[in-house]
Amino acid sequence: MQGHPHQVERLRRLRQSSSIRSMLAETQVEPRHLIQPLFVTEDADPEPIASLPGISRLPLSQLAAKCAELQMLGIYGVALFPKINPRYKNASGTEAINPANLALRAIRTIKEKIPGTMVFADIALDPYTSHGHDGVLDTSGQDVANDETVELLVKMALLTAQAGADFVAPSDMMDGRVAAIRHQLDLAGHTRTGILAYSAKFASAYYGPFRDAIGSQRKPEDGPISKAGYQINPANRREAVREALQDAHEGADILMVKPAGAYLDILREIREASTLPLAAYQVSGEYAQIHAAAEKGWLDLVKTRNESLLSIRRAGADLILTYFAESFAKDWNKA
Ligand code: PBG
Repeated sequence: MQGHPHQVERLRRLRQSSSIRSMLAETQVEPRHLIQPLFVTEDADPEPIASLPGISRLPLSQLAAKCAELQMLGIYGVALFPKINPRYKNASGTEAINPANLALRAIRTIKEKIPGTMVFADIALDPYTSHGHDGVLDTSGQDVANDETVELLVKMALLTAQAGADFVAPSDMMDGRVAAIRHQLDLAGHTRTGILAYSAKFASAYYGPFRDAIGSQRKPEDGPISKAGYQINPANRREAVREALQDAHEGADILMVKPAGAYLDILREIREASTLPLAAYQVSGEYAQIHAAAEKGWLDLVKTRNESLLSIRRAGADLILTYFAESFAKDWNKA
């Protein structure tokens, strides 16, 4: 066929070889963009988590070695989540402000042995409450009490900063918590401790495996209150932007969207609405579903993993919390 004189746009010209494709790639994922969530256990041995293949809760004695290994791979950040012994849980989550609790011991261990690792410490009550809510209930028992919860979170954040965490990461979605935490940290001289705010955290079905991992699954006898009373409705985009702008105004250093894959439009929207660095949490259910499909032979694990991370970066995330961090970095360093 003769070339058409007005054939102008031949986009395939720039896709002809792997060299030109690589030279023109607009988005990169590198280990430095990733933060590895780590589950910590009181027990002496690692405990595999069935719904998170390849991920185990780690004993305190193995935490520093894991962080050292991650650093060698180019992963500089970890997000810590403790699995609290049910014996220490109660309705008001008081173990959260016990200075000798598991999470605080984990932070001290890491910062003492591997000070270069950036520790992002979760601030929320769900690992500590018997009912699994991120806050304390009000006197009616019908709702999570916002301001009483914020008071506890502020104490928790202060202990966390004292233990040496580089960032506190409030994941509770109470109103006003970022401002209250920033104020208290500054009063106590912790001006260098950052806040990574779970700004747009949706009431999502994708958190299932995480709740297995830390034992915060809510049981029918825990009552009718749902996390939808504080986490954002998945239907809402404008509300997510409002939350993000509010957290920025209250003093957050980094904003976050969670989950990531089903909320790429929210990432893009917040990317454009704020100049703050933006993180995304590729949550447990996103990781689990890719693994499950790969186990069935229906998806290629590595390619799907890489595409999911690339898409989150393309949507606008600077940083990604992902259970794939270590496996991605191992492959990246080999390539
Ligand atoms: C709660 C919290 C949750 C996750 C991180 N922090 C779950 C919840 O709201 O129940 C989920 C992370 C994941 O699914 O990987 N503070």
